[in-house]
Amino acid sequence: MAVIETQNLRKDYGRLAALKGVSLAVERGQVYGLLGQNGAGKTTLIKILLGITRPTGGGAKLLGEPAGRVEVRRRVGYLPEDHQFPGYHTGYSLLDFSAAMYGVPRADRRRLIPEMLSLVRIASATHKKIKGYSKGMKQRLGIAQAILHNPEVIFLDEPTDGVDPVGRREIRELMTRLREKGHTVFLNSHLLGEVEQVCDRVAILRDGELVREGTVADLTERKGRYELRLAPGEVLPEAGVRELGFEVAKAGDGWQVTLPAGATVDPVVRLLAAAGLRLRHLVERRASLEDVFMAVAAGEGKAGAGR
Ligand SMILES: Nc1ncnc2c1ncn2[C@@H]1O[C@H](COP(=O)(O)OP(=O)(O)OP(=O)(O)O)[C@@H](O)[C@H]1O
Ligand SMILES: [Mg+2]
Repeated sequence: MAVIETQNLRKDYGRLAALKGVSLAVERGQVYGLLGQNGAGKTTLIKILLGITRPTGGGAKLLGEPAGRVEVRRRVGYLPEDHQFPGYHTGYSLLDFSAAMYGVPRADRRRLIPEMLSLVRIASATHKKIKGYSKGMKQRLGIAQAILHNPEVIFLDEPTDGVDPVGRREIRELMTRLREKGHTVFLNSHLLGEVEQVCDRVAILRDGELVREGTVADLTERKGRYELRLAPGEVLPEAGVRELGFEVAKAGDGWQVTLPAGATVDPVVRLLAAAGLRLRHLVERRASLEDVFMAVAAGEGKAGAGR
């Protein structure tokens, strides 16, 4: 069942179209990554799902209900991108306040808050005022605030922003654990390596349009591009390979061979064998999520084209 669903979602801010008809669905138990350059519309989409902003057109559903329903809001956690928690709160008092708003009973709060603060590794700052927290500490507290009431769906807008590398890994592991427990995590992030590691599916927005959507494996699949190396000192007969209809480029201490659509790499292997050359390395190259993202940023891909 889709726990998050948008249908042709549109948001105009005056004359600016922030979302131009975005349709996506997130299944329960997924970690879903929404990517896109600054201003692509990621935060706007989250805000509509949470009922903070109203859409101009189209529909958005959260846990089967139209976005913005108050009853649904309790079953959802949210880490906003520019959260400014009141500095006079301590970590403890902020979580106590926030969990009370979500209806967590007092006895549960007493038990859960220290657990949460340890989970995000700021237990030593439990009774320190937030105005004395570092950026990463505030971010960790924000994450604790987003998951304390055991929400079914958790929206994290740039959760690792300002967090050190150790903390970033901890947050990644936390997301994986949340998924294992059946929570759904919806993530906005610019850290593509991280997204690649943790997300089941990703969507890429460009100027308010969804230009790519799929599993990380689908998006990074790039058929027909091979890395090839020969025994030391041997040289690829580039002209011969080109005559077979393949593209060739030198790459490091080897070559990159690109196949025409529908072809296999076998003719290249036969050519090398016939020439008495010794093949030492031949692998199909995957694109990184960063490669995919850069291609999208450069203008590749059309709305609705899938990939
Ligand atoms: N309240 C608002 N009033 C007017 N324009 C807005 C408002 N909020 C967002 N926008 C515009 O909508 C577009 C999308 O903004 P949004 O914050 O959703 O981008 P984003 O993808 O989250 O970017 P970032 O990666 O920088 O966080 C931008 O052009 C932004 O200027
Ligand atoms: Mg944003």
